[in-house]
Amino acid sequence: MIADKLTKISKPIENELKQFSLLFRETMKTKVALVNLITSYILKQKGKKIRPTLVLLSAKIAGKVNERSYRGAILVELLHTATLVHDDVVDSSEERRGFPSINAVWKNKVAVLIGDYLLSRGLLLSVDNNDTDFLQVMTRTVKRMSEGELLQISKTRKLNIDEETYFRIISDKTASLLSTCCEIGALSAGDDLKIRNSLKNYGENLGIAFQIKDDILDFNGKNGFLGKPLGGDVKEKKITLPLIYALNKSDKAERKKIIHLIKNGKKKENLKKVVDIVNFSGGIEYAEKVANDYINRAKNELAIFPDSEIKKSLNDLLDFVVNRTK
Ligand code: IPE
Ligand code: IPE
Ligand code: MG
Ligand code: MG
Repeated sequence: MIADKLTKISKPIENELKQFSLLFRETMKTKVALVNLITSYILKQKGKKIRPTLVLLSAKIAGKVNERSYRGAILVELLHTATLVHDDVVDSSEERRGFPSINAVWKNKVAVLIGDYLLSRGLLLSVDNNDTDFLQVMTRTVKRMSEGELLQISKTRKLNIDEETYFRIISDKTASLLSTCCEIGALSAGDDLKIRNSLKNYGENLGIAFQIKDDILDFNGKNGFLGKPLGGDVKEKKITLPLIYALNKSDKAERKKIIHLIKNGKKKENLKKVVDIVNFSGGIEYAEKVANDYINRAKNELAIFPDSEIKKSLNDLLDFVVNRTK
């Protein structure tokens, strides 16, 4: 179902995505046997490839897909893969994309180093080809992603997150990269500043909605479907939008009770209670509404483009983001 919808969205760049996959595989190869073993393991998994899709669609709507667009697509997917490998270490996640995570199979040491390898491999691709404009936006994004993750960690330790901080975290850790994908796509195909900015803003808003949806799925997703059990964020003491809403709606005593449950979230029954409280609070509906607001903002950014097959795909991708079940 999900694959179907994405296949339809990426139809106008079907051949380009095939070419991307070949080049992506090529770029990952090295002489180090352990690295090849692990990258082959990663390549077997089915990621959604949303980021390279965004680069290629953006390049096409801004002009034409060319060699640089492919390098941009590889750069963002390598970086994304690196952050996922690191993220599973940070979050102690045992599964990713329905497979045991790299840290679960090869331990944290190896996962940290593989993440570094993928990140540097991506940056090197730009360095080797003098894509300095890509490097400029990308290194800033890497910095923002790390800052977002660190801010999240500092908040999970204190359990005192408000909406404003939540939005800063998700803008930095997730939206920054999705925005960069669109910007890099635009940069690869032309130099129109208006087009570049519209696509960049489209990506930022899409990215915020994407992470809100990801956080909603932690409370109401199909168990096991994501390769992740429900309430995984709560277990890690990550307080996301649906839970922030539930906490804000509670009186002092209730709030204390919820915080107590989160602090003792290693126990399955406590975790389940928090998931239920959030579901009853209306926090899911609230977060869905907020995600939809961002989707509309992203839609508005596309207004400068005349109707086309590519524009339709960019619009459909927005609907996909908020309707996805994994
Ligand atoms: C997961 O991103 C990380 C987040 C930003 C929530 P994706 O859901 O795009 O990951 P894959 O590549 O499809 O597995
Ligand atoms: C994913 O973040 C990694 C980044 C956005 C850098 P999360 O920890 O929130 O996402 P999943 O649910 O593990 O993919
Ligand atoms: Mg994380
Ligand atoms: Mg995680």
